[in-house]
Amino acid sequence: MVNLQSRSLRVYADSLEYLDQTRLPQAEEWVRCDSPEAWQHAVKHLAIRGAPLIGLSAAFVLAQYAARHPESEWQAVSDRLRATRPTAVNLMYCLDAMEACFAQGADALAERAKALFEEDRALCQRMAERGADLLASGNRVLTHCNTGALATAGVGTAIGALAIAKQRGIDLHVYVDETRPLLQGGRLTAWEMADLGIPYQLITDSMAASLMAAGKVDKVMVGADRICANGDFANKVGTYMLAVAAHYHQVPFYVVAPYTTVDPACATGATIPIEQRDGAEVRGAAGAFGEVVWAPSDAPVWNPAFDVTPAKLVTAWILDTGVFDSAAIARGEHLQGWR
Ligand code: MRU
Repeated sequence: MVNLQSRSLRVYADSLEYLDQTRLPQAEEWVRCDSPEAWQHAVKHLAIRGAPLIGLSAAFVLAQYAARHPESEWQAVSDRLRATRPTAVNLMYCLDAMEACFAQGADALAERAKALFEEDRALCQRMAERGADLLASGNRVLTHCNTGALATAGVGTAIGALAIAKQRGIDLHVYVDETRPLLQGGRLTAWEMADLGIPYQLITDSMAASLMAAGKVDKVMVGADRICANGDFANKVGTYMLAVAAHYHQVPFYVVAPYTTVDPACATGATIPIEQRDGAEVRGAAGAFGEVVWAPSDAPVWNPAFDVTPAKLVTAWILDTGVFDSAAIARGEHLQGWR
């Protein structure tokens, strides 16, 4: 029996199933995950991905491991889960919350994981409504990577705002950045736009600046993997380039995220750990469509999964707790009540 379900996660009493995001949109394949090792493999390969979903799925994996191994060393397992991907702070947020329950036993861990999942669903709804308040019919919105229901327990972050706008009858046109190298935009966001019935056009990342120069973009909305105390934030590589172009063309640039993505301990973007990934992802592409390699097989590659956008390029931070401009961020308003 499924105890909890989102667009990309099914939680059973003693295991999980995830929608394999490496197979979308060609196939909707649910895969069972019943060990920390299986989870680590899925997360490293981005079968489970998106900042909130990584943290929430880790919480369930840890709770289920604890129920199966009451005598074992839970901290060591949590440490391994924590080290799987370094950039999205939601993983650390969820594991911190779980570790705080270790002394109360396995049942408390299961309850805590469930509460985290339900919290994320509510946070998504709140930030998405705030984001939708900033949208009007006729807006042409550019987004990057995938920030929808696939990546969270609820409606999503930036895509959540688009989804709520759609529910309110606001007519949008969305430009979907393909998001090289792993194509979360081309594969996942395009699929979600069709699912939501939102008109969209797919572009390659390199087309965004000229689209802005042509006056065709009214707003940019993206998600985040970690927001620093000063408002700098990490998101999928290519976000910074978009922010620079938006700033130059005076296009409002919004970041949409839950408070669980804010890291008060990270003073500036310079201290965010950025995940480096295998060069094979840039030399070619692999996935449900097979494997193709276009670069020399030994071409040296630089492949950071994320980049950092400085706060000064952001028009506003749309969190579940409020919409903050740069003056509010400078006053630390986004940190109030945190943890
Ligand atoms: O490498 P990914 O696909 O996990 O990266 C995801 C992103 O960068 C998203 O924009 C971010 O996690 C916000 S999702 C709600």
